[in-house]
This record gives sequence, structure tokens and C-alpha cells, in this order.
Amino acid sequence: MSEEFTSQQFRQVLGQYPTGVVVVSALIPGEPPAALTIGSFNSVSLEPPLVAFYPSATSSTWPRIQAQGRFCINVLSAEQEVLCRAFAQKGANKFDGVSWRPAPGGAPIIDGAVAWIDCEMESVQVLGDHHLVVGRVTALDTQSRDLPLLFFRGGYGRFLPSSLAASDASVAEFLPVINVIRPELERVAAASASECLLATRVRDEFVVLAGAGSSTSRYRNPPWMEESTLRGGGPTRVGRRLPYLAPMGAVMAAWGSAADVPRWISPDAGIDPAVMDRWGDFLTTVRSRGYALGRGDIPYAALENAIDNRTGGVWDANLLRALDDVREAVLEQPPLDGSRSSYDVRSLSVPIFAPRGSVLQMGLYGLGDDMSLFKIRRCIDRLLKASWSCTQLLGGAMPEGFPRPESQDDGYQSDS
Ligand SMILES: Cc1cc2nc3c(=O)[nH]c(=O)nc-3n(C[C@H](O)[C@H](O)[C@H](O)COP(=O)(O)O)c2cc1C
Repeated sequence: MSEEFTSQQFRQVLGQYPTGVVVVSALIPGEPPAALTIGSFNSVSLEPPLVAFYPSATSSTWPRIQAQGRFCINVLSAEQEVLCRAFAQKGANKFDGVSWRPAPGGAPIIDGAVAWIDCEMESVQVLGDHHLVVGRVTALDTQSRDLPLLFFRGGYGRFLPSSLAASDASVAEFLPVINVIRPELERVAAASASECLLATRVRDEFVVLAGAGSSTSRYRNPPWMEESTLRGGGPTRVGRRLPYLAPMGAVMAAWGSAADVPRWISPDAGIDPAVMDRWGDFLTTVRSRGYALGRGDIPYAALENAIDNRTGGVWDANLLRALDDVREAVLEQPPLDGSRSSYDVRSLSVPIFAPRGSVLQMGLYGLGDDMSLFKIRRCIDRLLKASWSCTQLLGGAMPEGFPRPESQDDGYQSDS
């Protein structure tokens, strides 16, 4: 080691730089698959598509993978710390008890990994006590929306985003809009201590474009984990796609084209006129208040579970059934009339009017089951302010008569 610093200092200083964690895997004919945990992974080039990582010269697994000439990179999720440790152990069969399926090139894709990148070996070079391995990407995909596992100062953690945008290529056109609205999303989320999401309608889908603040995912808490530890740790709702069906996107239905409303109420033709009237009244109320509200009596938890466990894509049958229950409950919800000291509010959303008549939705989610009317009004005020300012920032126009926020303060003061 140089006279200027010790190896301990080298490790300590470089440990200030956080990394993600991948498992590099390969299929070995006639033997169990081989794999090792790697933190030194990164992308290198788009044209041609190249990635790289640095296995140690002392690794016993790397030469076996190298001999195959191809491997798969598995990006571990924050839930997979146990796997991270297991694949960092020396041992004959690290895949014992691990479920996987083959990538197109045959190497294991580990169940639950956030993403996989299938590669052919491009080059291997000796660099000090490590090798520099460059892989040419032949196939890749994301397979879950879980947040990735992070490694920092010898410990593990997860990403706590101040805000996050959807990474799906089909919503790339919204990135400029997201960038304009992002500071407002972060401010509203921080002041309300909950998750603030930006969503839009893309054809017949409701798509969550961006979000700020923590996602509470109570329904997924492992029993041994305190709820507070998981705040902000759940899978993000950003990137989520749902059917554009009542009550999802209520503010877009309220201020969008009237001709689209029947299709929003039901995908089936021939809606009962009485049902049509009830939704008509619902949308009129949303327009007069300037916001849409979802109460705790609504079976949102069942909907969340149906979303997470769906196997049939956006229009999964179980999800549609759960949505039906939510739909019915939304129409039945009693008003916030001040008759109680606290309310369970799940969602509050307002429209943002972008140019050319397009309407986006900004909403607060997971507000809590013990909200005083005062707190709810503050959240509504904050959202109405954000609706006015985001519309202005985007160069859109507020419709005639759209409610103004009640309070004159900046609306971003925290509630606590
Ligand atoms: C978070 C984490 C990151 C790691 N990153 C690397 C790395 O970039 N390069 C490397 O050679 N080893 C890295 N390791 C260590 C290897 O996983 C470990 O030395 C290896 O699996 C030992 O087993 P083997 O002899 O079967 O290769 C990392 C371990 C952990 C826990």
C-alpha cells in the first residue's frame, strides 16, 4: 500500500460511496448454477450495450462463470438482503432453496430480483487484485417494482426517494411535465407527511407518473417489522398502471371530456341510467369542491393486494372485482360533515390543467386513519394551491369557477 494512506483508509473512504447489489449468475453444465454477490456493477455503453463489474482475483466462483462465456446480472431488491449474504459466501451450491428461471442465454434469473441483464462475455482484463469484466447485453428486463437493495459503509439499506419518476418508456413524453411539477410534489408530500403522486390517463389506463414522500404499505409489513421502520420502504406506487375506471382518476373524469364519462363508469355498454345519475352527481360534487376524496371505509387495502398479486396485467379479473367493491363504496361514502372528531382519509386529489385540455391528477395517499377536519382542510388547501401553481407553471388555464384555497399562508407549513 502507498505511503500516503493505509488499506484501511482506502476501504473506509471508498465505503462512503454507496452501491447497488447484483448477483452475477451462470449455468454450469452438469453442476448446480454458480453465482456471486457483486457491488461493483455499472453500465458502460449504450452503443454497443455494455456493462461491467470487478470480481476479485481470489474469487473461486468467478473462474467457473468465466469459463461459460456468458452470465446474467440480477439486481437485488431491498427484500433480498438474505440472498445477498448467501451469494457472498463460499460454498458449493449457493442456489439451495433459491427459486429461479433461466434467462434467454440460460443463466439463472432469481425470483424477486428487481431487474435482470443477460450478457455474453465481451472482455476480461486483470486490474490489480481484481478483474475488469465487460459484458455485452443480449437481453434485459425489469421484473418487479420493489426498490433495490443498497450497500453503504458496510451496511444495507434501501432508497428513500425525495421523488421518483416512472421509468417506463411509454410515459417518457411526460418527463418534462414531471420535472416542472416535481418540486411541488415534494413540498406537498413533506408538509402533509404522506405520499404525493402525479397520475394521468394514457388511453384506457390510469398511470402513476411520479411520486414524492413515503409509501406506506401496511398490508405488506412482515409481522416482525415495526410499521415505522417500513414507512418509505414499500414498493413504490410510481409506474403503477390501473384500468382507467371509476373511481380511479376521478378528477380527470370530472374535468375531462363528458363523452368519456360512460366508458369511465363502466367498460360495458348499456349502463343503468340510475347508476349513471349517481356518478353524474359524484362528478358534479368533485367539480364544485375542486377535489376528490377517498375515505377509509372504502376497501382500498383489498384493491392494493389485488394490484400486487395480479397475474393478468392491467385488466386482471381479480383487480377488476376489487375495483368494483371500491367503486360501490365510493358512491356510498358519507360526507365530511364535522360530526366526528377524526376521519380515516385514504386519498385526496386535485386536477392540474395542462395545455391543450389535458388534465393530470395530483393526490395525497395514505393520509392516516385519525385525521381531524382541520388537518384534512389544510391538506385540501395545500393541494388546491398546488393545482393553481402547477397549472400556471405548465402554461395551462384553470376552468371558470375553480375553487381557490381558503387560507392565505403558503400552505406548506407542516401539520405537526
Ligand atoms: C455487498 C457485497 C458486494 C460485493 N462486491 C464484490 C465485488 O464487487 N467484487 C468481488 O470480487 N466480490 C464482491 N463481494 C464479495 C463476493 O460476493 C464474495 O467474495 C464471493 O462471493 C466469495 O465467494 P467465491 O469464492 O465463491 O467467489 C461482495 C460482497 C458483498 C456482500
